[in-house]
Amino acid sequence: MLGLTGSWVSLSLLWLLGALTGADPAGYRRKVSLDYNPGLNSSSVNLLHIRAVGQNDTLHYVWSTIGAPTVLLVHTASGSSALRVNWTKLLSPSPSGAIRVEPAHSILYSKAVVFTKVFEFNGTNSSDLSKAREGHFYPTYDLANFTWDSLDSTMNETTLTATFRGVGSDPQGTFRNGSLSFRVTAYEESRRDDPLPRLLHTANSSKVEFILHKVSPRGNHSRFALEILTVEEGGRQQRLESIRSIDDEYTPTIFEMAQLVSIPLNHSPGSSFLQWKTAAYSSWDAKREDTVHCQYYPLQTENRTVPQSSIAHAYFDELRSGHGVAAINISFGSEDQEAYEEKGYIRWSALIGFGKPPQEMFSPLVIAILAVALGTPVVLLVGGSVAALLKRTKQSSEYEPIN
Ligand SMILES: *[C@@H]1O[C@H](CO)[C@@H](O)[C@H](O)[C@H]1NC(C)=O
Ligand SMILES: *[C@@H]1O[C@H](CO)[C@@H](O)[C@H](O)[C@H]1NC(C)=O
Ligand SMILES: *[C@@H]1O[C@H](CO)[C@@H](O)[C@H](O)[C@H]1NC(C)=O
Ligand SMILES: *[C@@H]1O[C@H](CO)[C@@H](O)[C@H](O)[C@H]1NC(C)=O
Ligand SMILES: *[C@@H]1O[C@H](CO)[C@@H](O)[C@H](O)[C@H]1NC(C)=O
Ligand SMILES: *[C@@H]1O[C@H](CO)[C@@H](O)[C@H](O)[C@H]1NC(C)=O
Repeated sequence: MLGLTGSWVSLSLLWLLGALTGADPAGYRRKVSLDYNPGLNSSSVNLLHIRAVGQNDTLHYVWSTIGAPTVLLVHTASGSSALRVNWTKLLSPSPSGAIRVEPAHSILYSKAVVFTKVFEFNGTNSSDLSKAREGHFYPTYDLANFTWDSLDSTMNETTLTATFRGVGSDPQGTFRNGSLSFRVTAYEESRRDDPLPRLLHTANSSKVEFILHKVSPRGNHSRFALEILTVEEGGRQQRLESIRSIDDEYTPTIFEMAQLVSIPLNHSPGSSFLQWKTAAYSSWDAKREDTVHCQYYPLQTENRTVPQSSIAHAYFDELRSGHGVAAINISFGSEDQEAYEEKGYIRWSALIGFGKPPQEMFSPLVIAILAVALGTPVVLLVGGSVAALLKRTKQSSEYEPIN
């Protein structure tokens, strides 16, 4: 009975711990709407405005493949802030100021995430990008030079998703049957995603999935890596964090979560994050055996500039040195895993959002296991003492005084 109590005490403690470290004010909802090329009567270029209105604030996400695929994140302290796009200016060679959010005084925080390049290298001996030598790289895919399908047919206002699908103009025709996509999902509330890696999202985040589908590898044992760059106003520090867990219930075999967070210095308002599990998948409808290890590399913060062609230049006035630029590489596949060519598919998911990143709690299964594990010694201890006590009583009754 004491053992059972022990289990319950540890169980309750763990629940309490889980509740205290919990991510999000549960049940917080935003009203989300999607708007494609607002104010432009053409689908020759792609700009998607996701507006997520909360009680007294608005999150704007502006995704575009005009230039390198980019998302702008703007958080305002107003429920009615609006996006203004001057298309003439945006499509001109000097787009500075073409994208604005009004009223300007309501803006609390802005950031851009740019998907700059895809590297392909020979991973015969190592899948570690940082160990690949110069001669082992195939020509880099510069995503600013890709041709993108119109979003018309892939945008779904019910599921709040849209897919930017692009092809490179490689002379070898590596994109003849294949494509590279960024699939975007917006969220109205907190919930755990159904597909692997089953990320826990909040109303303050969106998901982006990077998908390489049927792109012909340019050699045997090709490995791919994605380079991501972030830009934000000064007064913040970008930090790369790794969170390890003993719990892989939601993402089998994966025990690490990585996140790139911006930490405000001297009380600048606002912060944001990019969060991912160290897993990619070799199938759209992934099961645990489709897990592909994904590796990230140190954050580069020196000497990085935003590619000439990105809507980041249309929003941030002048990308001076005052803007913090950071870049990171993420590669897919490990030594003991099949190379890309066998499945011809890679899908990697990440959350992009405002404020603090969602924090995983222990899953109920792990809590139960821990409770039993912590409870068992108590059971054994109590059980042992009772048994000893009983034995002693019995012994003493056996050794009755000899007459
Ligand atoms: C907005 O609402 C939230 C929750 O209702 C509150 O915590 C916050 O202080 C409010 N912010 C402003 C700027 O009014
Ligand atoms: C849009 O930009 C163009 C070119 O800079 C400028 O001439 C025009 O006045 C702008 N339109 C609006 C509505 O601001
Ligand atoms: C793999 O290792 C062999 C032997 O060390 C070397 O000759 C070869 O160049 C390496 N190839 C790659 C792609 O690293
Ligand atoms: C594209 O697919 C066709 C038919 O499946 C195949 O014959 C061809 O080799 C493929 N091309 C490339 C570049 O993979
Ligand atoms: C790739 O593998 C095929 C079949 O195993 C082989 O014929 C070919 O020479 C290899 N190519 C390279 C570049 O190693
Ligand atoms: C990513 O890797 C490539 C190839 O090694 C390198 O040129 C580039 O600078 C790296 N970028 C970052 C952000 O580390």
